[in-house]
Amino acid sequence: MKICASAPAKIIWFGEHFVVLGKPAIASSINLKARVCISNSINDKIIIESKDLGVKCIYGKDIPRELIQFIHIVEYCLSENIITKLKPFHAIIESSIPIASGLGSSASTAVAFTAAFLAYHDVSFNRELISRIAYEAEKIVHAKPSGIDNTIASYGGFLVYQKGRIRRIRVRWPRKFQLLIVDTGMPRNTGKVVKMVLERYQRNEDIMKYIYMAAEKIVRKAIKCLRSGNIECIAELMNINHGLLVSLGISTYEIESLVHRSIMSGALAAKITGAGMGGSIIVLTDRIKLDHVIRAISPLAYRIIPASPTSQGVTIERL
Ligand code: PMV
Repeated sequence: MKICASAPAKIIWFGEHFVVLGKPAIASSINLKARVCISNSINDKIIIESKDLGVKCIYGKDIPRELIQFIHIVEYCLSENIITKLKPFHAIIESSIPIASGLGSSASTAVAFTAAFLAYHDVSFNRELISRIAYEAEKIVHAKPSGIDNTIASYGGFLVYQKGRIRRIRVRWPRKFQLLIVDTGMPRNTGKVVKMVLERYQRNEDIMKYIYMAAEKIVRKAIKCLRSGNIECIAELMNINHGLLVSLGISTYEIESLVHRSIMSGALAAKITGAGMGGSIIVLTDRIKLDHVIRAISPLAYRIIPASPTSQGVTIERL
């Protein structure tokens, strides 16, 4: 028996960081995926292996740091009686999602692993359960996750996320526009960046609360612009949102150079996506300007990935 599950990467369009303190955020899945295949183990052991990271472990023995979240999923399912008896298995994790780049790679692998793991154990499940279990794994990766990454990886599409509640937005994505994910190549630790932002908030709450209110207003307006496919409005709100993220102290010289160069070369919008302090920015451009924008930012970027928003969340194949 072999069961594979795939889960998409995510980008946050609006509201990262603000979402940690209960404000709404808008995220969507994109066409990059993590895939986990679980098959019978030939030696009656439980083996978890990441092809991309080149690490492998046997359950019950030393666990490399990179695989702890998967062990946690197994143990959480046992402790909550979601599964009652473990069957030996061999899990292989593969992903086309850059790591530590703000694209939710850890949540996507956790969601894909959870879905394949539950299906392999013949447990009946839905997206809500997968997302809840993956959230437990996210807590291992960073201390105070809002839950947006595991939610998008489970449900897919465009979602407004606020305090664990989700609302789907039907978006008409005009083909005329292209989204680019531009990786600064600077990995960062989401947990540390979130902590830094929360500390700034606490030191300056009387000022910061207005910035958080502005971020919420951006999301409310962006929902309308996304529904009507008004790209000029979306682009302008993305640029304003980037300004607010700069005020949280999460931008860097590399990010600002890329944002500035993108806009100067004709892109409609450029903003941090995810935690910042490195990671990726997203750039929105009219396809007519695409080559020009790519040529302008290439010397500053570690990697440029053309991407599209998708509607699909986690999927399962039984092979
Ligand atoms: O950069 P990522 O993919 O780890 O996204 C983090 C998003 C934050 O809003 C900064 C944190 C969170 O848990 O929502």
